[in-house]
Amino acid sequence: MQRTLSTKQVEAFHHDNFVEDQVRHFVQMLPAAAAGTQVLDLGGGCGFFARRLQQVAQCPVRVVDLDEASVRACREAGIDAVLGDALEPALRGNETVATFNLILHHLVADSEARTRALQVRALANLRGRVGRLFVNEYIYESFVGHLSGRLIFQITKSRLLSAIGRVVATVVPAFRANTFGVGVRFRAHAEWRSLFEQAGYHVRDARIGSPEVVALPLRALLIRTIRRDSFLLEPAESA
Ligand SMILES: C[S@@+](CC[C@H](N)C(=O)[O-])C[C@H]1O[C@@H](n2cnc3c(N)ncnc32)[C@H](O)[C@@H]1O
Repeated sequence: MQRTLSTKQVEAFHHDNFVEDQVRHFVQMLPAAAAGTQVLDLGGGCGFFARRLQQVAQCPVRVVDLDEASVRACREAGIDAVLGDALEPALRGNETVATFNLILHHLVADSEARTRALQVRALANLRGRVGRLFVNEYIYESFVGHLSGRLIFQITKSRLLSAIGRVVATVVPAFRANTFGVGVRFRAHAEWRSLFEQAGYHVRDARIGSPEVVALPLRALLIRTIRRDSFLLEPAESA
């Protein structure tokens, strides 16, 4: 079962900081398909991506989100939006592309294995029902294997470690995390690719985002690079 953030924690995501990169990557990878394509934006939040994509590519977008305030904000902005779960979205049957913008890392459960299973399920559910998937995700590359994302997950999902993290963050703001006590599962680029394959998809195309500044204290978590990459997924032939 998914461990979900509180309404207050989700409020931290009510901003449009990343929408230009997401829309640019989408249009670059789906130029011909963009116009007229019915998009299902899972975890679409307040609809910033939906609105911008409609402006740029004239394709209708429907948002599905668990958060009532976000769905209300979408509707107030004239965006088609429904309250729903990305793990079991109700489809209308006309969707040709489904988008997962910065949501997969929030599909977390109480263990590493169950978290991976949730993320795989969200994608695999749509195979054969929606033609292609667009995923925009946080990439955490580590100095040692793929350790950073794993460490962050262990800290943020543990009540005790999160309590310590909150105290440390009062002195070292770089350690602030609004996912404390719930969990968040960032992954390296290669890890996301392997997860997509497990869900029965082939990575048709990808865009590498610009590296963000990694604050010095975060190097203690062995973080080498943080960025946001996008992936265009198609069902694998053999799946
Ligand atoms: C980090 S925000 C991303 C919002 C937006 N897509 C963006 O890129 O800015 C994650 C969003 O996913 C939503 N969310 C988390 N789990 C969900 C689920 N199982 N089904 C639908 N929405 C979910 C949250 O409510 C939140 O709006």
